[in-house]
Amino acid sequence: MNIGKESLALLGGAPVFDKPIPVGQLYFPSWERYETAFRGIFERQYYTNNGPLLAELENKLQHFLGVKHAICVSNATFGLMMAVDALNLSGKVITPSFTFIASTQSLSWAGVEPVFCDVDPITHQIAIEQIDALIDDDVTGIMGVNLWGGACDPVALESFASSRNLKLYFDSAHAFGCKVGDTSIANFGSLEVFSFHATKVLSATEGGCICTNDDNIAARLRSIRPSYGDANSVNVMRVANARMSEAQAAIALMSLEDFPKNQQKNKLLFDIYEAQLKHIPGIKLVRPAGVTFSNYQYIVCELDESVFGLSRDSLIAVLKAENVNARRYFYPGSHRSIEYNHAKYNQNLPVTDYLCAACIQLPVGAMVDSHAVESICDIVSRAHQHAHALKTYFEKRE
Ligand SMILES: Cc1ncc(COP(=O)(O)O)c(C=O)c1O
Repeated sequence: MNIGKESLALLGGAPVFDKPIPVGQLYFPSWERYETAFRGIFERQYYTNNGPLLAELENKLQHFLGVKHAICVSNATFGLMMAVDALNLSGKVITPSFTFIASTQSLSWAGVEPVFCDVDPITHQIAIEQIDALIDDDVTGIMGVNLWGGACDPVALESFASSRNLKLYFDSAHAFGCKVGDTSIANFGSLEVFSFHATKVLSATEGGCICTNDDNIAARLRSIRPSYGDANSVNVMRVANARMSEAQAAIALMSLEDFPKNQQKNKLLFDIYEAQLKHIPGIKLVRPAGVTFSNYQYIVCELDESVFGLSRDSLIAVLKAENVNARRYFYPGSHRSIEYNHAKYNQNLPVTDYLCAACIQLPVGAMVDSHAVESICDIVSRAHQHAHALKTYFEKRE
């Protein structure tokens, strides 16, 4: 193989991939399975409003996750907004800033103020030991975020929250199918919210699910979800429309069936990344922390520019020229986004700031196989070897 600097697309070579490789996950059933499932919907002429596929999906999710209630919703963002009302949260909620902006925005949409906590530099999960100092009389809860197919020590958070009389719930958008000890994520805190977006390992294209073992919270969630009451409704202050359609439920059911296979593929790809990247100075793959079983939802690396030779954003440009869509994630941290970038919100989050500048996400999921992952690692390796020439290229372009 030609590994001269000319072979990098940015320096004049041909791109390694002939069409863009997305970050992932994008697992989707075959056309035949999709067609059969959708024929059923059309034959029944039952398209939405608590349909039979939704009921089947909720039952199967409860069984799979070992949780009493799984309440499917249109997406995780809406699920997180509903959680605030279902738990009667008010005032302020402590949460990491190092998360997707939807976690934080869900609080603002529900009329609650986020209080940002920093994260652990090794695991990237919320720094539990820093929470106490953030508590004041207005704080009513903690929203933990389980990142990267790992977990933020939900057991320790449960005992901390109960010792401070705070409610606890989780944004588990990344964590479907992951386990802490023998327990599936879904069973911690008052409730947990999963995302079934197409980029997640369990996909409904768009969708999500709220899990709880508490009957009262489940009843409240079921009453908030439809835009009108149903027979079993309890009184809630606000209702929404967060229903999941039969089309979404059909896709999620097939995706649930495929979960073991897709998880195994993600693990295989993770292992290849781990084996290849460990030889490249300045790039560190982050292992999902705190779990006994991971879905390997994301391939996240930290890039140390002083050792690797190029900045994170330059490496993203190198990969893009090769048709590999790597991305900064999360960027910026919530505390640096327009709504929260001022003194009212905790801005002293040095680890979050560091990770937002250093993290790069590489492709995993349906659109890559082991050869593609080897090629991606090879591009990263060549970018490191030819960092000097690439730096000159970037300087000239400015
Ligand atoms: C941590 C986190 N929370 C919430 C969400 C929102 O999920 P959804 O797109 O289903 O609304 C995402 C989406 O990627 C996420 O990464």
